[in-house]
Amino acid sequence: MENDSGTTAPAFATLLQQRLTRRQLLEAGVALAPLAATTSLLFSASEAVAKPSTAPGFKPIAATGADAVILPDNYEYDLVVRWGDSLFASTPDLDTSKLASGALIAKDAAAHQAGQFGFNCDAIHFFPLGGKSKGGRDRGILCVNNEYITHELMHASAGNTLLEFATLHPQSVALAKAAQGVSVIEIVREKGAWKMVKNSRFNRRITAETPIDIGGPARGAALMKTNADKTGTRVLGTFANCAGGETPWGTYLTAEENIQDYFGNLDKLRRQPQDHSRIVDAHSRFRMNRRTSLYAWEAVDARFDLSQEPNEPFRFGWIVEIDPTDPRRAPIKRTALGRFAHEGASPVIAKNGHLAVYMGDDDKFEFIYKFVSTSRYDANNRAANRDLLDSGILYAARFDADGKGAWLPLVFDERGPLNAAAGFNDQAEVLIKARAAAHLLGATPMDRPEDVEANPATGRIYIACTRNENRTAEAAQSMYAGRVLNTGPDAANPRGANPWGHIIEVHETDDDHTSLTFTWEVFLLAGDPAGGKLLTELSEIQPGKIDSATVYYGGYAKVSELSPIGSPDNIGFDPAGNLWIVSDGTQPHDHNNGCWVCPTTGPDRGKLQQFLSAPIGAEVCGCQFSPDGETLFISIQHPGEGGTVEAPKSHWPDGPGKQPRPSVIAIRKKGGGLIGT
Ligand code: FEO
Ligand code: CA
Ligand code: CA
Ligand code: CA
Repeated sequence: MENDSGTTAPAFATLLQQRLTRRQLLEAGVALAPLAATTSLLFSASEAVAKPSTAPGFKPIAATGADAVILPDNYEYDLVVRWGDSLFASTPDLDTSKLASGALIAKDAAAHQAGQFGFNCDAIHFFPLGGKSKGGRDRGILCVNNEYITHELMHASAGNTLLEFATLHPQSVALAKAAQGVSVIEIVREKGAWKMVKNSRFNRRITAETPIDIGGPARGAALMKTNADKTGTRVLGTFANCAGGETPWGTYLTAEENIQDYFGNLDKLRRQPQDHSRIVDAHSRFRMNRRTSLYAWEAVDARFDLSQEPNEPFRFGWIVEIDPTDPRRAPIKRTALGRFAHEGASPVIAKNGHLAVYMGDDDKFEFIYKFVSTSRYDANNRAANRDLLDSGILYAARFDADGKGAWLPLVFDERGPLNAAAGFNDQAEVLIKARAAAHLLGATPMDRPEDVEANPATGRIYIACTRNENRTAEAAQSMYAGRVLNTGPDAANPRGANPWGHIIEVHETDDDHTSLTFTWEVFLLAGDPAGGKLLTELSEIQPGKIDSATVYYGGYAKVSELSPIGSPDNIGFDPAGNLWIVSDGTQPHDHNNGCWVCPTTGPDRGKLQQFLSAPIGAEVCGCQFSPDGETLFISIQHPGEGGTVEAPKSHWPDGPGKQPRPSVIAIRKKGGGLIGT
C-alpha cells in the first residue's frame, strides 16, 4: 500500500546506523571533519554548535497546582490589562461582581465589550514607540489576540444549552463577537512598572464584526463570495485568533485558528438538492460541525449557518495583517499564506532579502508551512513592504527518516499534481484548500503543530508539536478529518500515543530561509524525566519503539536538573537565544500550565527549567520579550476553566471571592535586568 506521506521510507534501522551518537561526535571532535562532509546532513542541527550558551541563572520553581502566578525568587509581575478593562474614556470598565446576575446579557453589554479588553488573551506582540530613543524602551503598543470566549465563565447559564441560551439571548452572540478578535493597546513603563494607557490614540478593538479586506490570490475568488459580499473582497471580522507574529516593517500578524467551531449545519447543506459536494468535502477537511456549532452563533446569524452561507468559512482560517500605528486602516487577510488552522506566523528576513514566514496548522495530523515572498524586503521604504505578503510561494514540509526534509510548493499547475483533476481550479483554490493540497504533495502529518519560530541567535527553526493522543503505536490506516492516512509513528512524530508533545529543530540548508531543503532532528520529547526514561542520544529515538514515558531533552543527561513539561504551545527567544516555552494542556502529575526555558546550544543545550506556574485552569500564551530583554509579556488565558460563574475554580487575578479574568502580565526582575539572568 502507498505510504500516506507519498514517500518511500527506507528501513529506519538502516538509517539509524548511519547516524552517529552525540557522544561519539563530541569525543571525535576535529578528527571527524572529513566524515562530517558526508554525514553533516544527518546531525548538523545539534552538533554544528553556534555560540555556546549556558543555562539561565535563576533558581527554577517546582511545578504546582496553586491558584497564582508563581515566579522564581527575585521576579515580580505587573498586571497590565484584564478582560473587561476599558480602553477608552467613554466606555465603563466591566464589573465582574455582576456576572452572576446577568450583566453580560444587558442591553449595552456588547457595545461596552467592544471598547474593553477582550476575553481569552493569547498572542502578544510589542511594538516600541518613539524609535531608538531611551524613552522608546518605555512606551509601546501591545497587540493581543483574544482567541475565543468561555461561556461558563461569563454567564450564569440557568441550565440552558448554548443553543438555547443564544436563542433566548441573541445579544449574548453580539457580546461573544465583541469579546474576541484583537485588542490593540498602548502601554507605558513608569517607575519600572508597565500599565495600559487608557484612551491612547492607538487603542483599538478588532472584533468578529470589524470590516477586513481580503488580499492576495484568493481575493475575489468564486469560493470567497457570499450574499453579503458578492465581490469576495471584504469580510466582517476575525475570530479564533490564536498566536501571531510581527513583520520587520512593524505590522502585526494575527492567526485565525479553530474557525471550524463557529459554523454549524453541515448536514443540512449536504442534504440540499444542489450539488455542494466540493464545498462539503472542503468543510469536512476542517471537521466543521454537522449540526450545532460549538458557539451556536448560527442560531441568530445566518452567515454562520452552512446551509445558508456555504462559502462563509472560506473567508476565515487566514493570517490577518494589522498596522498597529494606524487605527483607521482596515486589517487585511493575506491569502497567499494559505488557509488552515493557523497557530501563528513567524517572519524572518532571509539573507537574500526575501521574507520567509513559518507557520503551523494546529490540528492532529496537520502540516508545517513556510511562505516565501516574491519581492525582497526594503528596510528603507516601509510603504514598499505594504503588500509583500500578497505574492509568493507557500510550501509544506516533508520530514524524511534520514534527518533531511523538503519544502513542497503549493502551486497550481495544469500538468498536475495540483490541477483541476485533483480538485483545484486555480491558485486561489489551492490556497483555500491548502490542507488538501499539502496532503496530495506528501507533506508529513504532525502531532498538532503550534508555534514555529526562528532562533534569532542561530537561525534554526523550532516547531512545537503540542501532543497527539490519536497517534497510534503502530502503523494504521485511519480516516481523520476527511482523508485516510497512516496514524502510526514516524521519524518526526516518533511516539504513539504522544500525550506530552515534542519539539523539532530545523536547520535550513546553507542557513538560507528560502531554501527548499533542510535537515532536522528531535529537540525535545516532553514528559517527566524523573518518572520516565531519559534518552540522551538521538539514535535512541526509534519510532514505534519508544512510548510516552520516554523523554529526550536535547541530549541533556542530568535527570535531577530537568523540569517536567507537557503540551508545549507558544515559544519565544530571549536576546541571548534561549528557548522559552509556554504550555497549553495536560502536565505531568496534573500540575498547572507554565513557562520554561533552556539553552539550545552549548553544554547546557536542553537543560529545561521551569520559570512560571499559572493559576488553576489557565493556559499560558504570548511569551514575548521587550526589545531590551528586561520584560517578558505573558497571557494568562482562561484561568478557572472547568468552573462556572456560580462556582469559580480560580480567583486570579483579583483575589478571594472574585471571578477569574484572562489577563496580560509583564514579568520583570526586581530592580531591573535581563529576564533569566
Ligand atoms: Fe490556540 Fe493552537 O492553540
Ligand atoms: Ca496556541
Ligand atoms: Ca511565539
Ligand atoms: Ca494550544
